Amino acid sequence: MTNEQYYELIRPYQNANQIMLTKLEVLNENLYHKSDNGPIHNVQDRIKDKKSIEGKLARIGKSDSVQNAKDYLKDIAGIRVICYFLDDIYNLVDALKRHTDLILITEKNYIENPKPNGYRSYHMILAVPVYYLDTMEYFPVEIQLRTMAMDFWASMEHRICYKKTPEHRAKLASAFCQYAKLLGDIESQFEAYNETGKLLQEVHDKEQKE
Ligand code: GTP
Ligand code: MG
Repeated sequence: MTNEQYYELIRPYQNANQIMLTKLEVLNENLYHKSDNGPIHNVQDRIKDKKSIEGKLARIGKSDSVQNAKDYLKDIAGIRVICYFLDDIYNLVDALKRHTDLILITEKNYIENPKPNGYRSYHMILAVPVYYLDTMEYFPVEIQLRTMAMDFWASMEHRICYKKTPEHRAKLASAFCQYAKLLGDIESQFEAYNETGKLLQEVHDKEQKE
């Protein structure tokens, strides 16, 4: 894949990311009818770089053509949504599923079913329509939703374990399982301060009265 082909390839994925970022911004401002108490702590987005695209295609035994990238990689566009509370994640997931212009390709709940190493997050791949003068095409965006505790763990795990040899990783594994448990406990304690349920009930009661 030449540099020119790469830049041509990623353009609609950048557009798809932009559309999703706007949707998330709108949800953050409106989900709980109160913009100063939104579900999102912060959002990160990225487009897979050329080397990573080529590396992943090689790993799955495909040549690094533009067509193979489009056919086999569903994470060229990626957005990470860091939330305050567990409910915020599920409320956002439900809200995104109500966007009738989006198509849900896959979802993986690594919160209810953590990976053996302790990794937790909610993953969705959504197909986003990108419109041109006389055509429309769907492009996949990988959305990872997690709490700050989950993000802390995943960022540290990536930094510390990613480039290590398998035996070094095995040595770290039990420590990281332990950290995942500790962070999960802290997260549960913070849940006591989650007032979203109360807020939603108040909105509901107000609407009933009107
Ligand atoms: P990839 O080939 O890595 O995209 O994996 P996959 O197709 O099996 O998808 P999965 O949903 O398992 O993971 C996709 C992404 O989630 C990864 O690219 C990471 O960003 C994140 N992720 C998954 N597992 C881990 C993990 O054990 N540690 C960390 N730090 N991140 C992870
Ligand atoms: Mg990936």
